[in-house]
Amino acid sequence: MADNGNTALVIGASGGLGTALKAHLLSSGAFSQVLGLSRSVSEAGAPLLDVTDEANIAASAEWLKELCAAKPLRYLIVATGYLHQTGQGPERSLAQLDAAYLSQIFAINTIGPALLLKHFAPLLPRDGESKIVFISAKVGSIGDNALGGWYGYRASKAALNQIVKTASIELARRNKQTCCIALHPGTVATQLSDPFSKTGLNVREPAIAALEICQVIDRLRAQDNGRFVDYRGQALPW
Ligand SMILES: NC(=O)c1ccc[n+]([C@@H]2O[C@H](COP(=O)([O-])OP(=O)(O)OC[C@H]3O[C@@H](n4cnc5c(N)ncnc54)[C@H](OP(=O)(O)O)[C@@H]3O)[C@@H](O)[C@H]2O)c1
Repeated sequence: MADNGNTALVIGASGGLGTALKAHLLSSGAFSQVLGLSRSVSEAGAPLLDVTDEANIAASAEWLKELCAAKPLRYLIVATGYLHQTGQGPERSLAQLDAAYLSQIFAINTIGPALLLKHFAPLLPRDGESKIVFISAKVGSIGDNALGGWYGYRASKAALNQIVKTASIELARRNKQTCCIALHPGTVATQLSDPFSKTGLNVREPAIAALEICQVIDRLRAQDNGRFVDYRGQALPW
């Protein structure tokens, strides 16, 4: 594919999906620049980016500013997220609700992405297409919730979806060709899904998921702004 002169940025580039998304964008040859930021591995000279630290987010945006001055930021993909760590995971019942876990999951899955929008949106071009994609989750759909459980993760992703929808309206006032969406990646074989990937689920390898997700992103147009879709581009209920 011909180099389009633009920049693509993946935030959360150290994760299972983030790594595969960055690799896919690099191998496509479509962008002049494919950059990755994360809490644990980043580009040379880039600050490490912890989404729970606003000063850190601001420093990362400042770093990006110069790099995308001549190569506009056209793809911004946020693939950070949190579900479990040793000793803490999704709740099966109200009795398991824990304030520390709820605070942490909202800090990473909702507030962090909102602050990413605050600091990175000003770097998006004021004309021409740009696509901002937040990797969300179908379990964040209130309309689709038939099973219950996973209070914190569901609620943090539902709130993320509201942030994305609200920002999509504001961003379109600045540039009519902006498309900002929430995207469910399906079940993907990463450390996040590993403890829950029981047989029967369609668990896909990160490279396949990245290919499918990028095909959806490539097809996005301004009229798709503010949507919640899955990795096939199908609309999901809020
Ligand atoms: N895998 C699935 O089946 C599945 C299904 C539905 C939705 N999703 C969503 O897909 C996205 C990617 O998940 P994944 O499966 O690739 O999981 P993953 O391999 O665990 O990757 C998670 C990413 O989030 C980063 N992260 C966590 N806390 C952070 C923080 N405080 N600041 C900055 N970065 C932080 C991690 O950074 P470190 O490497 O530094 O830890 C890592 O890059 C998430 O939003 C997840 O909710 C995944």
